[in-house]
Amino acid sequence: MERLLIEGGHRLEGAVQIVGAKNAALPQLAAALLSPEPLTLTNLPDVADVRSMMTLLEHYGATVLARSGAVTVDAAAVVNREAPYDIVRRMRATILVLGPLLARFGHARVSQPGGCAIGARPVDLHLKALSALGTTIALDGGSIDARAPDGLRGGRILFGSPSVGATETALMAAVLARGETEIMNAAREPEVADLCACLVAMGAEIEGAGTHRILVQGGRALRKARHEILPDRVEAGTYAVAAAITGGQLELTGARLEHLAAVGEALEAAGVRIWPTDRGLMVSRPGRLKGVDITTEPYPGFSTDLQAQFMALMTIADGASMIRETVFENRFMHVPELSRLGANITLQGASAMVRGGAVLRGAPVMATDLRASVSLVLAGLAAQGETVVNRVYHLDRGYECLDKKLVRCGARIQRLRD
Ligand code: UD1
Repeated sequence: MERLLIEGGHRLEGAVQIVGAKNAALPQLAAALLSPEPLTLTNLPDVADVRSMMTLLEHYGATVLARSGAVTVDAAAVVNREAPYDIVRRMRATILVLGPLLARFGHARVSQPGGCAIGARPVDLHLKALSALGTTIALDGGSIDARAPDGLRGGRILFGSPSVGATETALMAAVLARGETEIMNAAREPEVADLCACLVAMGAEIEGAGTHRILVQGGRALRKARHEILPDRVEAGTYAVAAAITGGQLELTGARLEHLAAVGEALEAAGVRIWPTDRGLMVSRPGRLKGVDITTEPYPGFSTDLQAQFMALMTIADGASMIRETVFENRFMHVPELSRLGANITLQGASAMVRGGAVLRGAPVMATDLRASVSLVLAGLAAQGETVVNRVYHLDRGYECLDKKLVRCGARIQRLRD
């Protein structure tokens, strides 16, 4: 097992290349299963979750060819069989193959997924969407068995609350369903809109991407396509916090201000300066930080995927910050670990009260999930002395070369192997 040894207290300065979004890459790789024609994706991040998804596609008999920054998935010879639990348990996003396989073959069987331990994370909304398109679903032996022997037909899907993954499942199923599908209360995350753009490049007809109501005219034959994955707003937000927590300045090349949405606003309110440049975004923290309250919400609200990082920043701000988590019920696993570094945080239900002004001091800490683990790295950058972050495989699931990118900007980090 690997761990990171961080010597804190070094100001970051320089440029960081923001890669393609993991959360856009995963559904788009799954979308390649929809068609026998090849799909080429560019700007894919080289992270463990993306590699797991490629392994899963290969398990189905797809060929996955990586060449000069592009990955081509050819799913012509796909064999429809159940995914091995060993891959599925690693990553919840494996549920994303259910819709495409079902839509193409009229039958699919997928193990109920695992992934980050940040809450119950049911898949009922995915199944509800597929049912609305004419699927019969049975749950047995830990697997989901979905059947639509005469093919899917368009329908109306109304989500009680917006779900990124379920909207993506609905979209991928709807493009091959006969007739029109209306998806209401759809998730508006940029990654959902990017999936729509990818599906349109493959020949699908979709209106309303990025809004609450998406209309799909389904049943068209899909064709060979090429699509560039949008930049990772969570990676960009994470490096923005890295600049802020060390009182430094970083240029995030490829990042887009509009994708940060409420996160950009909260950072500015906390005393961080963010402005667009020709190449992306510049982030700088010239003076003192101040406590800001946030509530996580679906996009364009404050992203739950940046809550842990923002909390790390708030530990050293002047004043208090109330952080409310409304998307996942159990997403505060970083709190006891941040406290080990000297943070002053009180948890009450879905809220965390951060009393700022802490002097963080290095200590050994344990990564528990992807975003929690990066918050510990960020706190370690600001802490006096040495911090050891254990179980960094969580980090490697979603960040490409995090330690190397930080070191290039002045951080002192070593990756240690047992
Ligand atoms: C995606 C992102 C994840 C991000 C999350 C919220 C990917 C691969 N992952 O996860 O990084 O934190 O969006 O922005 O894109 N829910 C149900 N039933 C369902 C599906 C979801 O109750 O069938 C609930 C979840 O438990 C959660 C909420 O809906 O409370 C939102 O989850 P969802 O948007 O589906 O997140 P994911 O797609 O899993």
